[in-house]
Amino acid sequence: MSQHLVLSLCKNITLVEEVNTQTATLFSPNYKITFHSIKPGMKKVLYSLIKEGADIKQLHDFLEIDEGILAELKLNVYLQKFSQLGWLYYSVFAENNLIAIAVPLCKNTQFANTQIFTESRYLLSRFAYLHLVDEKIVLESPLSKMQIRLFSWQGIAIINQLATPCTYLDLVSQIPNLSINTAKHFLDLLINTQMISEVSIASNIVEQEDLSLEQWEFHDLLFHTCSRMGRHSKRVGGTYRFLDKIDPLPAIKPKMSDNIIKLFKPDLENLKNTDDSFTKVLEERRSIRKYGENPITVQQLGEFLYRSARVKEIIQTQRGEIMSCPYPSAGSLYELELYPVINQCEDISSGMYHYCPLNHQLSLISENMKTLDALVKTASQSLGEQDIPQVIIIMTARFQRVSWKYESIAYSLVLEHVGVLYQTMYLVATAMKLAPCGIGRGNSDLFSKIAGCNYYSETSVGEFALGSRQ
Ligand SMILES: Cc1cc2nc3c(=O)[nH]c(=O)nc-3n(C[C@H](O)[C@H](O)[C@H](O)COP(=O)(O)O)c2cc1C
Repeated sequence: MSQHLVLSLCKNITLVEEVNTQTATLFSPNYKITFHSIKPGMKKVLYSLIKEGADIKQLHDFLEIDEGILAELKLNVYLQKFSQLGWLYYSVFAENNLIAIAVPLCKNTQFANTQIFTESRYLLSRFAYLHLVDEKIVLESPLSKMQIRLFSWQGIAIINQLATPCTYLDLVSQIPNLSINTAKHFLDLLINTQMISEVSIASNIVEQEDLSLEQWEFHDLLFHTCSRMGRHSKRVGGTYRFLDKIDPLPAIKPKMSDNIIKLFKPDLENLKNTDDSFTKVLEERRSIRKYGENPITVQQLGEFLYRSARVKEIIQTQRGEIMSCPYPSAGSLYELELYPVINQCEDISSGMYHYCPLNHQLSLISENMKTLDALVKTASQSLGEQDIPQVIIIMTARFQRVSWKYESIAYSLVLEHVGVLYQTMYLVATAMKLAPCGIGRGNSDLFSKIAGCNYYSETSVGEFALGSRQ
C-alpha cells in the first residue's frame, strides 16, 4: 500500500515514445512536453504517472537507476511544471480502494506540500462545500483551485467530523474502521487544497484571522470566483450552449393584461435644446428620499420611462432577437423588465403595472394594495422611512435571455445591467427634477408570487424609488 498521496497525470494526457530519437513526449489537448535522451528511470516515472500513478517515494525509487541526485532534482522541476499546467492529480487510497482524488480546476494550482502533524488539530473551512457533479460528490471551495472527488464513505465521514477541530488520531477513534494512514493522507489532501486549516493555539484558523477573508460571505466569494476567470477552467462568455437545443426567448415579454394605459412620449428633439447640460445633471444628481406634496404625474412617469428604458429598435439575428435601448446591455439582450408599483401618482390608480418598453405602455397586474403593501414597506424601510416612495420601479430579469448565450457570467451580467439602468434612471430623474433613489434590497419571492412569475424564469433583481421633488 502507498505510504503517501498517489500522484498521477490527468486522463487526457498521452505519452508518445520515439525509440529512434530516444525522446518521449507528453501531449495534452493544448500543450506538449518533450523529454530528450530519456533514461529508463524517468521513462518509468512517466509511464506510472500516466497509468496507475505512484507516490513520491516510488517515483524517486524509479529514478535510482538513472543518475541519482540530478534526476531527482529534474523530477521535482517536472512535477512543479505538471502542477503549473494543471495536470497533476493527487489520490488517497485505503487498502487499495480509492477514497478521493484532488483534481486541478485550472492552471497554477497550489498544492502546497504542507505536513500533517500528530499533535495538530484541523478544522474545515467555512468556504468548503459538497455538491453533486456528474454523479459524484465533490468538495469544492472558492479558496481552492482544486476539486476533491469523493469515492467512498470515509471521505464524507472525515469531512463531517472536521466541523469541529480534530487531530488525525481523533478521526481514527471517532470513525469505525478508519486506518491511521487513510486519516492522515486524507487530511494531507484537504490541507494542501485549502479545504481545512491547522487550528492555532488561540483556537482560530487562518481564515478567521484574515480580516479580508473574515468579511467575505460564503455566497459572495463563491459567486465572485465562479463568475470571474482564474480559479476554474469553465467556459466564460458568449458560448451559446443552448443553441439548437432550446429556443431563445423573444426580446419582448408578451403583455401581462388587457388593462392597458398608453404613456406620454416626450419630444426628444425639444429636450435636446431645453435640458440642463450633461455636466449640470451629473453634478446635481443626488439620492433623494423625501417627496413633494403634489405626487409625480403619470405624464412625468411616461417621460421618465421613455427616456430611461424604451426600446428604440429590435434587430432580428440568426441567434435570436436583440434590441437597442437608452442604456447599454451585454450582447444587446436586454433581459430586464420594469414593474412600477404605484403608491401615489396623479391620474393613475395605485397598483402594480408592467411596462412594455416597445409600445411604451403599462399593463395592470394588481390593484390590491394590501398585497403590495409588503413590497412598499420593505422599500420604505430600506430608504430609512423618511417618506413613503410614490413609485417603486421593480426591475426583474428574464434570466434565460442572458443564460441562453452567456456561460459562467450570466447572473453577474444581470446585476451589472441593474447598475447601468440605475445610473441612467438617476440621470434622467435629475434632468427631470424628480426625486430618485436606488434601493439595495427587495423580496424576490414575494414579487414573483404577486406578479405570477416563475421564480427561476423571472424575478426581481433590483428596485428604484421615484417621486416628485419638494
Ligand atoms: C446599488 C445601490 C443601492 C442603494 N440602496 C439604497 C438603499 O437601500 N437605501 C437608501 O436609502 N439608499 C440607497 N442607495 C443610495 C445611496 O445611499 C447613495 O447613492 C449614496 O449615499 C450616495 O449619495 P448620492 O446618491 O446622493 O450621491 C443605493 C444606491 C445604489 C447605487
